[in-house]
Amino acid sequence: MLIRRAPRFAASEITDPKLYLSRRELMAGAAALVLMPAPGGAATPKGQALTAARNAAFSLTEPPTKIDHATTYNNFYEFGVNKDDPSRLAHTLRPRPWTVQVDGLVHKPKTFDVDELIRLFPLEERVYSLRCVEAWSMVIPWIGFPLASLLKRVEPTGQGKFVEFTTLLDPTQFPAQKPGFFGYSSLDWPYVEGLRLDEALHPLTLLTVGMYGQVLPNPNGAPVRMVVPWKYGFKSAKSIVRIRLVSEQPKTSWEKAASQEYGFYSNVNPAVSHPRWSQADERRIGEFRRRATLPFNGYADQVASLYTGMDLKKFY
Ligand code: MTE
Repeated sequence: MLIRRAPRFAASEITDPKLYLSRRELMAGAAALVLMPAPGGAATPKGQALTAARNAAFSLTEPPTKIDHATTYNNFYEFGVNKDDPSRLAHTLRPRPWTVQVDGLVHKPKTFDVDELIRLFPLEERVYSLRCVEAWSMVIPWIGFPLASLLKRVEPTGQGKFVEFTTLLDPTQFPAQKPGFFGYSSLDWPYVEGLRLDEALHPLTLLTVGMYGQVLPNPNGAPVRMVVPWKYGFKSAKSIVRIRLVSEQPKTSWEKAASQEYGFYSNVNPAVSHPRWSQADERRIGEFRRRATLPFNGYADQVASLYTGMDLKKFY
């Protein structure tokens, strides 16, 4: 991502992950794990078990990234620009109580408590890879439900063409939102992302409340985030407080920061380089070898038809 004062790749990205990642290996899927005890203790059900049957039809068969890696190597700029900032600092995030306002061009706008969402919509586990624009990726057993289920419940009026996602704005919980925070990033707060309505309604698009058999850990966007597996990771907004149906294409945080580098669509595309580096291959966190990046992150069969007739070099 765009970090003006930091080197393009953090030292951790070119170092043997074994040297910088903890050796603890927590068992994926085990119940009631206590995950990443944080100084100060957040008002969060940290590590609380959250289980769901795996949806095999929507799951990769390759083994998931180790949970230790997935929770300590993160992009969450509200805590700073370094990959280990979220795991060091995210204890200030308070994921309960938490509400998500769902409104805009809908007949039945409603504010949902996050636990109400968990009760209302049948949860599924789906093993998706998330491919970051910085050319690394992880394979994670996410737990959530199709965003489409929530959108249908609030009854879109038919005038909405896009869905806008907004992350919490609260400098008491997100240190990097404080003016003068040391780790500079060029992002405007709150973090805003968006999808076209048909992308938002696609069955792969997951509103996510957990991973590895437990509620979402703070560094991964507790208590509720998006996972849009065929797009670069930054499209998957974390710690969401508002989901709004709108008629105009939302102005996203990364487009505002650097529109020549981060487009609205941001579909994973090995044929379109980022202006400063190639997108042709990637490294799974926890591995050394690089692997070829697949068009739409391997989900082309399911989603390529959404873009028929579009020049994906222009609409990057
Ligand atoms: N959401 C918010 N609110 N703030 C962020 O900085 N980073 C994005 C995305 N969602 C980000 C965010 C980026 S760049 C990536 S790659 C993914 O979150 C990383 O998700 P992960 O930490 O669970 O791997």
